[in-house]
Amino acid sequence: MYHYNQKGLQTLQNYILERKPSKVIVLTDYHTKELCLPKLLPYLPAHFVNINIPPGESYKQIETLQSIWKQLLENNADRNSLMINLGGGVITDIGGFAASTFKRGIDFIHIPTTLLSMVDAAIGGKNGINFLQGKNQIGNINLPKLILVNDDFLNTLPQMQIDSGIAEMLKHGLIGDRDYWQKMVTYLNNKNTNFSQLIKESIQIKNEIINEDPYEKGLRKVLNFGHTLGHAIESYLNYQKKSPITHGHAVAMGMILSVYISNKIKILKFTLVTSIISVIRKQFTLIPFTDQDILYILELLSFDKKNINGIPQFILLEDIGIPAIDQAVSKEIIIESFKAYNALATKRSDK
Ligand SMILES: NC(=O)c1ccc[n+]([C@@H]2O[C@H](COP(=O)([O-])OP(=O)(O)OC[C@H]3O[C@@H](n4cnc5c(N)ncnc54)[C@H](O)[C@@H]3O)[C@@H](O)[C@H]2O)c1
Repeated sequence: MYHYNQKGLQTLQNYILERKPSKVIVLTDYHTKELCLPKLLPYLPAHFVNINIPPGESYKQIETLQSIWKQLLENNADRNSLMINLGGGVITDIGGFAASTFKRGIDFIHIPTTLLSMVDAAIGGKNGINFLQGKNQIGNINLPKLILVNDDFLNTLPQMQIDSGIAEMLKHGLIGDRDYWQKMVTYLNNKNTNFSQLIKESIQIKNEIINEDPYEKGLRKVLNFGHTLGHAIESYLNYQKKSPITHGHAVAMGMILSVYISNKIKILKFTLVTSIISVIRKQFTLIPFTDQDILYILELLSFDKKNINGIPQFILLEDIGIPAIDQAVSKEIIIESFKAYNALATKRSDK
């Protein structure tokens, strides 16, 4: 289903030749149009339609979706058209949703161009947009026909966005594979490791999980480790504070909080708390939160899609590689964990 590196783009050309879509539409954002689309041109038919949207999380919303639908109509896209989503997680999320809903669904292909979208957002068929204060409130699960991962696209990606993807790679180790976690730790300590191989293994970990539970009835929930608080922090900083951070940065802070919570509810040993947090902390700046910030973030937790009867359900850790799903956590424990996190955030980092 997914193809890795150079062969991937060739696969696109073969797929288009065989499938003969009535129209090929390539969705980009301003950055991927300039930096990534030229690399794709040799593999595209001469006449394709480009829909180009502004970059960033704040455009993963209903007005942008409407403008994509409108441009699909204006360009006479029909049910036999093919949409190619060329970009980061914002493009694959909104593009996958636009294609899944246009004329009750047209075929689409993801070509992820950020590290985060290669190892995470493009894999697993979750599509959607943010709505009101909540992240990913509207969406569906519908798989692309192909996912073409080519890490040459990373050459133009800013370091901050590479770090964002690294957060999800670390997550894959923590929830699914102790050996992979160790490989990531080694990579972060001395960058000599083959990074392409680490990307490939990260995709494999996610793929195995979603193949077993595509509709998130059980196992797939583990992929939300760090995301319950991470999403609330991301929405808070993006929309209330107007001080946006990357998705992975928010997830990294969410993972640290979840590690503290795991220890406070006595399922994770303190020695592991320190060793896990020291790895994450070296890579990410921890933003301190005031009491007022924490109250807002707690309020945003009420929008989390995994809530049951309004109570947030956390994915926590029992050990590296061993997650615990559906953990209801009291407000008091969450606040205590923010306190422990804040103590660390205000300390000088040992970067
Ligand atoms: N569907 C899922 O399963 C899933 C999983 C994880 C995250 N997500 C979603 O993914 C989104 C975050 O994705 P993201 O971090 O890729 O953000 P993004 O799509 O906003 O991309 C980050 C920035 O990098 C730019 N960019 C993209 N490719 C580039 C390249 N090759 N060179 C230079 N610049 C490039 C983009 O234009 C943008 O400015 C969030 O909305 C998150 O909710 C979805």
